[in-house]
Amino acid sequence: MDQLKLLVDLHIKGQRQGPGGRDATRRAIDLAGLNKKQRLKIADIGCGTGAASLILAQSLNAEICAVDFLQDFLDELDTQAVKLGLADRIKTLLASMEALPFQDASLEVIWSEGAIYNIGFENGVRYWRKFLKPGGILAVSELTWLTRNRPDALTRHWGREYPEVGLPSQKIGQLETHGYEVLGYFPLSPDCWRDNYYGPMQGRFANFLDKHGHSSEAMALVSAEQTEIDLYEKYSSFVSYGFYVARKLPD
Ligand SMILES: C[S@@+](CC[C@H](N)C(=O)[O-])C[C@H]1O[C@@H](n2cnc3c(N)ncnc32)[C@H](O)[C@@H]1O
Repeated sequence: MDQLKLLVDLHIKGQRQGPGGRDATRRAIDLAGLNKKQRLKIADIGCGTGAASLILAQSLNAEICAVDFLQDFLDELDTQAVKLGLADRIKTLLASMEALPFQDASLEVIWSEGAIYNIGFENGVRYWRKFLKPGGILAVSELTWLTRNRPDALTRHWGREYPEVGLPSQKIGQLETHGYEVLGYFPLSPDCWRDNYYGPMQGRFANFLDKHGHSSEAMALVSAEQTEIDLYEKYSSFVSYGFYVARKLPD
């Protein structure tokens, strides 16, 4: 089995595929000041199995287009949406976040939790802006430094893995440069990593390894995930995801 299929298999039964949480999504909804009665067109980009889409659909009067480039994740989201009676509010779409099929100025909201790094934060906020209606909302979570001074090993690690990691002030500056007014920012709390993402993933390790006969590829994947978890545990006071909520300014 190739690496991507293994990755999907390890993550598909997780409630989420990255750090985050119900309270954080709700807090971002509040920061955005979204009207709960108005019918809103929302795209959830890099939705995975739909952690955020499901909460948005439960919290708002929304028509959600959940976008991912992995059909297996979208199928799982469709199943969950039917189970929760939300299928009429969530439609899944197989597409790349780099080539979205939306019309310009067609969305009230673009949501993206733990996914914009795939095209880079600055590139993503610049490219996605045209799809928002005037005054539309962008809500994204992104890897963010919590402190200006940090252990060198941590700065080197993320400098290699995701050179765009930055301070909140840098991310806010980029949003302002690219035509947004920032309505709020908050860092994700450690439970978003431990209780909602890493803990449940660790709980799936044993079954995953059994299922794949402890193949070297499966062992390597588990080991890479554990290394990331160890790094987070060691340095959790220096780095997290930041949730950024912004409004599109007129051109
Ligand atoms: C870390 S996961 C986050 C998933 C979900 N938003 C969550 O918080 O649980 C990142 C997601 O982005 C998707 N993704 C990565 N690159 C993509 C691309 N170029 N276009 C669309 N989706 C992409 C992955 O398939 C994955 O579902």
